[in-house]
Amino acid sequence: MKKKFLASLMAMVMVFGLAACGSSTDATTTEGEDTATTEEGTTSGTGGKIGVSMPTQSLQRWNQDGANMKAELEAAGYEVDLQYAGDNDIPTQVSQIENMIAGGCEVLVVAAIDGSSLTTALQGAAEKNIPVIAYDRLIMDSDAVSYYATFDNYKVGQMQGEYIRDALDLDNAEGPFNIELVTGAPDDNNVNYFFGGAMDVLQPYIDSGKLVVPSGQTEKAQCATANWSTEESQKRFENIISSVGYGPNGVKLDAVLCSNDSTSYGVQNALQAAGYTADNMPIITGQDCDKPNVKNIVAGLQSMSVFKDTRTLAEKVVVMVDAIMKGTEPEINDTETYDNGTGVIPSYLCDPVIVTKDNYKEILIDSGYYTEADVA
Ligand code: GAL
Repeated sequence: MKKKFLASLMAMVMVFGLAACGSSTDATTTEGEDTATTEEGTTSGTGGKIGVSMPTQSLQRWNQDGANMKAELEAAGYEVDLQYAGDNDIPTQVSQIENMIAGGCEVLVVAAIDGSSLTTALQGAAEKNIPVIAYDRLIMDSDAVSYYATFDNYKVGQMQGEYIRDALDLDNAEGPFNIELVTGAPDDNNVNYFFGGAMDVLQPYIDSGKLVVPSGQTEKAQCATANWSTEESQKRFENIISSVGYGPNGVKLDAVLCSNDSTSYGVQNALQAAGYTADNMPIITGQDCDKPNVKNIVAGLQSMSVFKDTRTLAEKVVVMVDAIMKGTEPEINDTETYDNGTGVIPSYLCDPVIVTKDNYKEILIDSGYYTEADVA
């Protein structure tokens, strides 16, 4: 059903894309933008306006994602309407998307705050045959979604679980070891994969008793953190520390599974306030390689982060947009994993990479992602 929809969508895109192209240069008047790039004869792109909807400016990664995409789409000859939805404000994201649809955007790239809250807004896109690319997070319950571009989210969780397994040498050491679990926003579909991937590795050890979760909080809902907020994860972890009695001189805490860096940072704050230092910090995971977290990795306060090079994802999406605008099929490498409730969404999954104190220079500095000063 999805395939049929996509086939007719591609046909419509070709026709609509060409038609819309003709009018988009006069219909689009984003302030301060150089609309000359949308005139014929410029770079590879066909011209036209692309809407990019990002969830928040309060986390480093989304600022990078947005900025990278805008720069690359513009370099390819497109005009870009880039919007951030305040600080994860769902109604703001809905109205920004509605404005993009009304304002002549020909493709939408959307990183949803709440994967299930865009169904109605995106009906407008479907009616106008505007293809939608779900960016990083899958948009649920909408058949307006044509493609999904992300990192291999299951693998991210798996890497975190395997890191803990190997660092504690769970297959050989006697144990038992104490662990606590922290994941992200319950309305972010990625959490199912991050938490699911990690728990697929760790659950057998919990079942056998080699890993113990003294707080008793093992369900996804109990481990969730609204909006991936550092403050929320810090608060929850302060409660766990005092209720279990963790501390450098109290109950031993061996590891904390954290699904990403913003939540991991809150956990590290709580642990430091309870007297932990680089000398006795438990194993702590993360994701994103946010600057404050890389600093903590270097300082020995966080064990690892999963690096998702936002340059790569942005680049992939720009190529996808360009293919759609030219009426060709974008490259995809997964047609099985991501069902959004209306069918499987053809996806492109980029590869995540583990970063530790031992390889951060090579992965983050030598690649030009950060300077030494950024993470000193
Ligand atoms: C996830 C995303 C992560 C992280 C988190 C918090 O959806 O995949 O990279 O940034 O949101 O924003």
